[in-house]
Amino acid sequence: MTSFTVEQTSLDLEAFWMPFTANRQFKAHPRLLVAAEGMYYTASDGRSILDGTAGLWCVNAGHGRREIAEAVHRQLLQLDFAPTFQMGHPGPFELAERLVKLLPADLNHVFFTNSGSESVDTALKIAIAYQGIRGQSKRRRLVGRQRAYHGVNFGGVAVGGIGSNRQFFADLTPGVDHLPHTHDLEKNAFTRGQPQWGGELADALEQIITNRGAETIAAVIVEPIAGATGVLLPPLHYLQRLRDICDRHDILLIFDEVISGFGRLGTPFATQYFGVIPDLVTVAKGITNGNVPMGAVFVRQGIYDTITQATQNGIEFFHGYTYSGHPVACAASLATLDIYEREGLLTRAQQLAAHWEQAVHSLKGAPHLIDIRNLGLLAAIELQPIPGQPGARGFELFRRCFEQGVLVRAAGDSIAFSPPLIIEPSQIDQIFATVAAVLPQLA
Ligand SMILES: Cc1ncc(COP(=O)(O)O)c(C=O)c1O
Repeated sequence: MTSFTVEQTSLDLEAFWMPFTANRQFKAHPRLLVAAEGMYYTASDGRSILDGTAGLWCVNAGHGRREIAEAVHRQLLQLDFAPTFQMGHPGPFELAERLVKLLPADLNHVFFTNSGSESVDTALKIAIAYQGIRGQSKRRRLVGRQRAYHGVNFGGVAVGGIGSNRQFFADLTPGVDHLPHTHDLEKNAFTRGQPQWGGELADALEQIITNRGAETIAAVIVEPIAGATGVLLPPLHYLQRLRDICDRHDILLIFDEVISGFGRLGTPFATQYFGVIPDLVTVAKGITNGNVPMGAVFVRQGIYDTITQATQNGIEFFHGYTYSGHPVACAASLATLDIYEREGLLTRAQQLAAHWEQAVHSLKGAPHLIDIRNLGLLAAIELQPIPGQPGARGFELFRRCFEQGVLVRAAGDSIAFSPPLIIEPSQIDQIFATVAAVLPQLA
């Protein structure tokens, strides 16, 4: 593969079909990153760009960690690939043992995948298989939530709640209902931390259960905090209420922690932050510091036992990926966990949260702002959309911040901030000073 340099200007951009990108627009005005170290990217024109988004919510320990690179290098030379179908190698066993120590209760078994999307579809399949094996084979329905993002595979798109992602595909996976989302600007705009109002929105699950019959529902899946659609926070008591309703009706609860996992809120996972324990947890991204593709599903003991004890001989669960527990991904993840542990990164957001909250809310009163929200080391601002052009103002803010040396993430007219957990207070100030300078420049 070519090693791009900052001088490189003659790259042909045509053949790569870019994901979730306005391809023609991008290729007319590209933004290329060619190097990264610590909190900073280097753009192809040589400028330093402060990373306000941990890449794509994944580089939690910061960029260019030699320890991970060296572990990957050593692993490739020692054992580049080995199957995990009816075979094994030490990596995923060692990693699974390390990972489950970070989870509460009996979330103590791990199924490895290669992405968040695969984790979600794996979790949904485990839930439905579990229900069937324990004699509840009518429990095949799933409940997701409006404005949820659970990746792009069929299951994840079905339970997800983003119209543009569902167009063409949603009707191919029937048997799904959606809870209302929890974002209400009339009640909760400019709240610091979790909103007071909205816990009762969880009761919509009771209505779905009444309509469909509890005996038809396998699982409910939610992001504890909806990230990709603009950092939508769970109101106080909301997640506990969902847990209680699921318990009453014997329905599994899945937390999709692809973004909230690995220290984003100042605890290893959001389940600990909110004190609510789901039955399955999906993760990816931060599991390898975004350095090598990997995902995982954590499963409670009873689910693992039910599925693996149902068959006397032979394969118990007909599911898996060629790269489930890939040696290189395992090596990257183990090195990542070493860094998280040594540098206290999975709890560091606690120390920064007050400064972070103060910094983002200092934007209040700036032009176009209709909301500011934050939790842990996660925040978003929401801009008044330009009439008839939803997302245009958000995109312009993203573009101008990039020009001024700060990477933020536009989700429509919401702008999300989720920096590496190694960020320093002065860098937090730089992110929001840049946003404050750009806001008045927007149309
Ligand atoms: C909550 C959640 N689930 C699933 C995914 C999909 O992950 P991936 O892009 O690794 O497939 C994402 C990606 O942002 C996510 O935020």
